[in-house]
Amino acid sequence: DTPGIAHIGIVTVSDRASRGEYEDLGGPAIKDYLDEVLTSPFQPHARVISDDQPLIERTLQELCEQENCCLVVTTGGTGPSARDVTPEATEAVCDRMMPGFGELMRQVSLQKVATAILSRQTAGLLGDSLIVNLPGKPKAIAECMDAVFPAIPYCIDLMD
Ligand code: MTE
Repeated sequence: DTPGIAHIGIVTVSDRASRGEYEDLGGPAIKDYLDEVLTSPFQPHARVISDDQPLIERTLQELCEQENCCLVVTTGGTGPSARDVTPEATEAVCDRMMPGFGELMRQVSLQKVATAILSRQTAGLLGDSLIVNLPGKPKAIAECMDAVFPAIPYCIDLMD
């Protein structure tokens, strides 16, 4: 474990990507975004998992508690279909919710697509980790990250 290197979890939640039916584009898009905006090196921990609530909960807990990720970003599973349970899993594991993240991301996404109202994305704190949900569409990743990213280092600093 290299001291001073931030660990960041990247979780793609998708039944089809986890079965290999299509390539995971969301996880790599998050990694690319972080490579662009972060000025110091970081250790990514990428996972591609199905839309299974207990599995999402275990993955979030593992990344925060075992891998010591200060930030875990998810993509997918925030919509209205029955299999979309990422916000429920996030809320189940978090100690406190940070509703401003979802509010702001929906607001900026609505400028681009009317269907942004369908995203139930949220964020919260698990111990000293921040978990942030992004929608599943790769295009939505940079749009949403642009809106909330400025607050993320500040939030992580305040939690230490
Ligand atoms: N946000 C942005 N910026 N761009 C998009 O294309 N798609 C929406 C919404 N948010 C979208 C967006 C749609 S169609 C849905 S159903 C929800 O995100 C949830 O997507 P998810 O279930 O893949 O997380």
